[in-house]
Amino acid sequence: MIKPYIVGNWKMNLDAAEGTELAGKILHASIDYDSVDVGVAPAFPILYSVKQTVASSKGRLAVVAQNVSAEEKGAFTGESSISMLKSVGVTAVIIGHSERRQIFGETDQTINKKVRLTLSYGLNVILCVGETLFEREADSHFETVTAQVAKGLKDVPVDKIEQVTVAYEPVWAIGTGVNASPADAQAMHAKIREMLKSLYGPVMANKLRIIYGGSVKPDNAKGLMNQPDINGALVGGASLKSEDFLGIINFSK
Ligand code: G3P
Repeated sequence: MIKPYIVGNWKMNLDAAEGTELAGKILHASIDYDSVDVGVAPAFPILYSVKQTVASSKGRLAVVAQNVSAEEKGAFTGESSISMLKSVGVTAVIIGHSERRQIFGETDQTINKKVRLTLSYGLNVILCVGETLFEREADSHFETVTAQVAKGLKDVPVDKIEQVTVAYEPVWAIGTGVNASPADAQAMHAKIREMLKSLYGPVMANKLRIIYGGSVKPDNAKGLMNQPDINGALVGGASLKSEDFLGIINFSK
């Protein structure tokens, strides 16, 4: 049994006061951390204050970054390095979110560089993949997504792969209120696991978490989480309200 993982991606929402308030509510909620791993991903300026807010959880409530620079140090105005994120207590990084791919032009090569850099610093990676509506309608979604997985993980050795969670987020389901059906999501997760098996062998691939993102809400979480290859959720909009986020966490078990 793979332990589920629920992560709230706050995107560019919540300032310091709002973010620490929400983090405090999650901290004080009763969450059975033996049966679910939980993380929140605030925007860069409040990573440190959110980490301080949840310090008493002793790392059980993980603080996750939404991005990282592909470079280690130097003249890269506006960027934040992996060692900076590590220094404020971040333990995982979301890499390759479709908003980074589509709005900021991140390529599979850049994403792979960020993945390898993050792993080399001992942090965990949430590697996001997902097809557009055009790709789904053209019936190329399986090919698109499995290629994103293989390219994102290029040269990631087997001894680092357990630090990686793959997040399947169909672009057409993000922020639209239209989630992938449990059956469609399961079909894609199974394909992703097949790709992981071909890269790392079945024993390792069966331990890895593949989580779903795209309009996850408390009322659709159970159906999604009940699928055999769906091991958690990457939640956007619904992670901004403690009741909704905690509701989703409760359905993950
Ligand atoms: O990373 C989470 C995400 O892109 C899904 O967003 O608002 O559809 O839950 P949302």
